[in-house]
Amino acid sequence: MRTRFTELFGVRHPIVQGGMQWVGRAELAAAVSNAGGLGMVTALTQPTPDALVREIARCRDLTDQPFGVNLTVLPTITPPPYAEFRQAIIESGVGIVETAGSNPKDHVSAFKAAGVKVIHKCTSVRHALSAERLGVDAISIDGFECAGHPGEDDVPGLILVPAAADKVRIPLIASGGFGDGRGLVAALALGADAINMGTRFCATVEAPIHENFKRQMVANDETGTELIFRTMRNTARVAKNAVSRQVVDRERQGATFDDIRDLVAGKRGVEGLLRGDVDHGIWTAGQVQALIRDIPPVDALVRRIMAEAEEIITNRLRQLVD
Ligand SMILES: Cc1cc2nc3c(=O)[nH]c(=O)nc-3n(C[C@H](O)[C@H](O)[C@H](O)COP(=O)(O)O)c2cc1C
Repeated sequence: MRTRFTELFGVRHPIVQGGMQWVGRAELAAAVSNAGGLGMVTALTQPTPDALVREIARCRDLTDQPFGVNLTVLPTITPPPYAEFRQAIIESGVGIVETAGSNPKDHVSAFKAAGVKVIHKCTSVRHALSAERLGVDAISIDGFECAGHPGEDDVPGLILVPAAADKVRIPLIASGGFGDGRGLVAALALGADAINMGTRFCATVEAPIHENFKRQMVANDETGTELIFRTMRNTARVAKNAVSRQVVDRERQGATFDDIRDLVAGKRGVEGLLRGDVDHGIWTAGQVQALIRDIPPVDALVRRIMAEAEEIITNRLRQLVD
């Protein structure tokens, strides 16, 4: 399948693995790239820019296919040294970056000056158009169903993707809620050139997280997520569990960030991830959990999605118009 996306990024399949904190390590990114998609190492999962350089080298040892690095810029109390991470990415010679979060301006100009192709991931047509004006190479647009930060507009992909496709001229990647061949065909029909998946890639053999989380994703359905930080206008879609329920209840009662800080602490989330305790802290997952029924190797997943998409296009859809 050839699209503007596969042509621009030199990959076989129009499938991206979006940046994922604690999950986007070398083994997953390399597995996706080896399967013909575009894998993404997540910069801020590494404690320092030097550690990121080593992680990129590790990914390069595991694949000779193109892969990228995600750099997420979010409001935090103690911001990481973004400029140093950016420099580490540039000096590592990675040719592709996914920027996400607020205000990518400085990062985009530095990456472009260094000849790096930039995919900017955002959650509104407005932000997509400003990133296009900044000179990014492609837009990844996250619908409301996505895991992580869906923004505050609550526009699902069924509307957001075609609305963006009508206005954005550069290649467009539809993100949020994708997990199978049906989704890929739908995204292409809506005007996208590729899909981006996060949650679906977490439930694979190569995802470097505890088995209990993968099994929980298989067990969960479309109601298995919750929106936290709504009252702070920094909404995050996370897996519904004992902690997310407490957070939402306390937000309803008027809690401030300080009141829930301990519950949502990244440290607590990581402890849970390592121990395999799905109710210990907050962890990120999307509504697409409804479509996850197994934990396959990445290569088998990508082949299945492509085969299903081709079958739908060449048989089911064609028969409708014959
Ligand atoms: C565990 C997890 C961690 C994530 N962390 C990040 C992140 O650090 N930066 C980012 O830009 N997106 C992050 N995302 C969002 C994904 O890159 C992607 O946009 C999203 O998962 C798409 O929705 P889906 O899960 O329905 O496929 C994360 C998603 C998951 C599931």
